[in-house]
Amino acid sequence: MPVTCVIGLQWGDEAKGKIVDLLTADHDVVVRYQGGSNAGHTVVTGGQSYKLSLVPSGIFRRNVQCVVAGGVVLNPASLIDEIDGLTSRGVRVGENLIISDRAHVVFPWHVEEDRLLDKLCDGGEAIGTTMRGIGPCYRDKVGRSLAVRLGDLYRPGLRERIAQIVQAKRRILAGMGGAAEEGSLDPDQIFQAYEQHAARLRPHVADTTVFLLDAVEANKRILFEGAQGAMLDVDHGTFPFVTSSNSSGAGVSSGSGVPGRYITKVLGIVKAYTTRVGGGPFPTEQDNETGQHIREMGNEYGTVTRRPRRCGWFDAVAARYAARLSGVDSLAVMLLDVLSRLAEIQVCMAYELDGRRTTTFPSHVDDLRRVVPVYEMLPGWQTDITAARTVDDLPEPARAYLARLGQLVGRPIEMVSVGPDRDQTIPVPHSFFRP
Ligand code: IMP
Repeated sequence: MPVTCVIGLQWGDEAKGKIVDLLTADHDVVVRYQGGSNAGHTVVTGGQSYKLSLVPSGIFRRNVQCVVAGGVVLNPASLIDEIDGLTSRGVRVGENLIISDRAHVVFPWHVEEDRLLDKLCDGGEAIGTTMRGIGPCYRDKVGRSLAVRLGDLYRPGLRERIAQIVQAKRRILAGMGGAAEEGSLDPDQIFQAYEQHAARLRPHVADTTVFLLDAVEANKRILFEGAQGAMLDVDHGTFPFVTSSNSSGAGVSSGSGVPGRYITKVLGIVKAYTTRVGGGPFPTEQDNETGQHIREMGNEYGTVTRRPRRCGWFDAVAARYAARLSGVDSLAVMLLDVLSRLAEIQVCMAYELDGRRTTTFPSHVDDLRRVVPVYEMLPGWQTDITAARTVDDLPEPARAYLARLGQLVGRPIEMVSVGPDRDQTIPVPHSFFRP
């Protein structure tokens, strides 16, 4: 039975939500296992567009069990808002959503720490976080002493625990130059709000680790929905300009509890170009008219923060590294239609570092800053491809472009997307685009 992972291979925003939504038709369980409300997954279904953050993209299908596993950091108020938003539009969110009691909880002090800390990074260049408290919450998880898991909200002593943490956090925030005044974090107010959130979420809370282990052992079809992209992985990405979780394939097991040996397939998702939100090096960035053109054509503005995304050419060095790192079997290439008006398209097939050509992705951010992309120029197609439904419907230059991407990344292409709707997806026969 398929146990499939959908992993972004760039810096996030690869349109994974659309692919997850398509694949859920063939799966029984859809799992979010890392990240939190920093993620924004857009799913277009029945002519309506939904923005999801914590709720798995399987929520729109009947008979699909959605799971938010323990590796996720959870802001209860955001999750409740999201659930309410979905139910008000007629989407059923009941026992089809379970949430791990091991998930760590985001509190107001995390959001404040995010704001204060972001400026301190890397001699002035901010990470440019989504300001959702994600990094500080993960830091408390690893630090342990000031952490609260969802399951803790249902145990005695929560009021005292919150008071104790607030005391410590006030000192920490003051040391970081934040608002130190008494009352800036009111433990009673926080306790009351979180007690209410906890009561709302109670019907969904479960031991998802055991649920998922039972599911794989019962041969259920499981889909793991990655958030962000492999290049933002805290261990293997462009550190420190990363998110605080394992957003490459490496995070599936630690975040969900399901051993890697059960995974039968990893689908890597790439855009036909590259985008990045926030700070950090981006070798193929086009901070010019081309980048602006891609931004407008692709509506490249953040789902969560609405920040304009930085846009650039496809970086095959980064994507190949990410594909190897995540154990990718095949690729889905998204947003190919965004490139349709360009006369020429460039692809970065290598870097030059200190005068030497390399296809190895540098491990240090300083080296990544210094690389000079080596581009290959490919002809554009300059026709509307949004109505294409088979590979043969695509103009020859678009097919050649795809073939070259697959070759450079070293993985076969399985799907191509030419628009947001479910049906604007081209299945690619095995014989096409094999590297
Ligand atoms: P954080 O995850 O909010 O700590 O942000 C860390 C970095 O990851 C910033 O550069 C964010 O812009 C980026 N990031 C976090 N989540 C996403 C996402 O879902 N898509 C794209 N970038 C993201």
